[in-house]
Amino acid sequence: MDVIRRAHSMRELMRRERRHGRKVGFVPTMGALHEGHLSLVRRMRAAADTVVVSIFVNPAQFDEGEDLARYPRDLTGDVDRLQNERIDYVFAPETGEIYPDGDRTWVEVSELGELFEGKERPGHFRGVTTVVMKLLQIVHPTIVAFGQKDFQQAVIVKRMVRDLMVDVEVEVLPTVREDDGLALSSRNRFLSTSLRQAALAVPQALDVAKERFEAGERRPEELIVAVREALEASDGLAVDYVDLVDVESLTPVPEIERDAVLLVAVRAGNTRLLDNLVFKEPAP
Ligand code: PAJ
Repeated sequence: MDVIRRAHSMRELMRRERRHGRKVGFVPTMGALHEGHLSLVRRMRAAADTVVVSIFVNPAQFDEGEDLARYPRDLTGDVDRLQNERIDYVFAPETGEIYPDGDRTWVEVSELGELFEGKERPGHFRGVTTVVMKLLQIVHPTIVAFGQKDFQQAVIVKRMVRDLMVDVEVEVLPTVREDDGLALSSRNRFLSTSLRQAALAVPQALDVAKERFEAGERRPEELIVAVREALEASDGLAVDYVDLVDVESLTPVPEIERDAVLLVAVRAGNTRLLDNLVFKEPAP
């Protein structure tokens, strides 16, 4: 496994992989790797000949005053973890490699990027789509993996790939959770013991929605209220949003008739937690 720091070196290596007809699988990350990231890595290991993982804490997707400075960084630990996964390349560029002086171009997916997380964090998705586009141009993978955990991000990246006709297959993989149900996130380490306990209300609230759905409930408002109540019953959580929307347009559905997703964001102290639940109607 090689750690590559320069964009032009990465590009050159990937050109060689393609010349040899190898299928390249890619996992973009911001490091501080946990089992959620590693599940994407393992899937790419199984699906591709050559696997690349990028580690880049992307300043463009953090708001001013947001947690860029305190975002966890552990390149040595991450490289160790990836060593065990038999991947081929870690791409860990400096900021100037991705945003050289004079850089002026942004990639922005309209509308979808302004909802939910985009409303809470203006400019966030513009930062995500811009860096993902740059990384795809450097690595040029056959297939790229994203987690369902960040549902809106996955929807927006798929939209960008379709709209800009990027030649890559996007695979979205299930959320990896702790034994008690909390979705793994690099930010969980900021939770105190009591907030960690409070955060459990998130997967529990999704379970309530799942049970109601399985019992036949199809009215979004009923499901949203049930989830809100379950979240608000937990001391220490502040609800940012709970909504039930179409899986592609992210606009509210009047009734669950086809695939819809329940999106949840809460704040536990200063830490934002995201989770979601996809409802699938059986094909008629
Ligand atoms: P990061 O938060 O490091 O996440 C990298 C990838 O891991 C994303 O696709 C994310 O959805 C996935 N992931 C995170 N937690 C997961 C979990 N519990 N189960 C499964 N997958 C999980 O998302 C980003 O970085 C950045 O925005 C990035 C796409 C790298 C652009 O900078």
